[in-house]
Amino acid sequence: MAQLAISKARLFLIAAAVVLLSIALRLFLPPSVSSSAQLSTSDEAIERGEYLVIAGGCISCHRGEEDEESFVGGLALETDFGTFFAPNITPDMETGIGSWQAEDFLLALKHGRTPGGSFYYPAFPFRAYAGLSDQDVVDIGSYLMSLDPIANSVPAAQTPPWLNRWAMAGWNLMADISEVEYEAFDDDLVERGAYLARNLGHCSECHTPRNSLGILDARREFAGATLGEDVIEAIDAAAMEEWTAFDLDLFLLLGLKPDGDFAGGDMNDVIEHNTSKISDEDRAALAAFFTRHNASNDAQ
Ligand code: HEC
Ligand code: HEC
Repeated sequence: MAQLAISKARLFLIAAAVVLLSIALRLFLPPSVSSSAQLSTSDEAIERGEYLVIAGGCISCHRGEEDEESFVGGLALETDFGTFFAPNITPDMETGIGSWQAEDFLLALKHGRTPGGSFYYPAFPFRAYAGLSDQDVVDIGSYLMSLDPIANSVPAAQTPPWLNRWAMAGWNLMADISEVEYEAFDDDLVERGAYLARNLGHCSECHTPRNSLGILDARREFAGATLGEDVIEAIDAAAMEEWTAFDLDLFLLLGLKPDGDFAGGDMNDVIEHNTSKISDEDRAALAAFFTRHNASNDAQ
């Protein structure tokens, strides 16, 4: 009897170890991404990539402190969890991403994983970019690799001692759990707008409230947030009730609000580098997505 009890306990321990190991593997092993994807040097891929980088607002974080036109990095991003520095994403071999392949871009942008298997901090909005199509990510990579390499070393992230890259495995897991499945739209323009808003344009990063761990509260998407001292307005259906699609289109182009005010702060940067530079169709798509509950759009 005693013999049997021990072996049962042993079996239980083995089973528990297997479960823990598989959780650990799922957490820490890099996810599998398409290994057949290739970066391209074709003009078409590079042009598509350039457009996506504009719509993705990459320059807002990855520009230099002095060199605001290129992706040399170094800008300090202050957050409640420390100061993060957007890296140099020009193809410089020493200080940039000169050796990156398509797979590295897929792992970084869609999964927040470094080429070495470690984790990025979510100051890099990879959870928004996770919804990008593989083709869009690869074209973004093709464009970045076509740029002139510029040497610029960027400081390491300054985080409190309890916060390190490996802790992000647990953070990602918790963020996965609090994610919600969004409805699909039968209107192509609205669907495109959703892709631009939720994924490429990462509007949620500023406009959706977060919990104490900095995880976005997907159930209150676009319900407004605070960033340090700043209050960021809600842009959900209730907040956009008075806005027509035309109003929002004009705001995303010029920063002019229906009440005659102009956008300030970080939104200015988003408009200058991102929404004023995307195509008219894409701006209309964003406007259609955010004002889709608004009956007055039908009157347009
Ligand atoms: C809100 C700021 C922000 C935006 C917007 C942003 N990034 Fe980043 N990015 C970061 C930060 C911060 C890191 C580094 C995170 C870390 O240290 O873990 C990073 C890391 C990266 C890396 C990894 C580089 C390396 O050397 O490991 C790549 C590649 C990258 N970003 C590309 C992009 C692209 C492409 C876009 C636009 C589609 C973009 N980023 C938009 C902040 C941003
Ligand atoms: C980096 C942070 C950031 C990002 C990303 C961002 N916004 Fe904003 N947004 C702000 C801030 C800050 C304000 C308040 C600006 C002000 O004080 O005038 C704002 C204001 C707005 C307003 C005006 C709301 C009102 O009632 O006056 C709209 C509309 C808006 N943003 C839409 C968007 C859309 C659409 C996107 C994605 C394409 C986006 N924002 C991405 C920071 C951001």
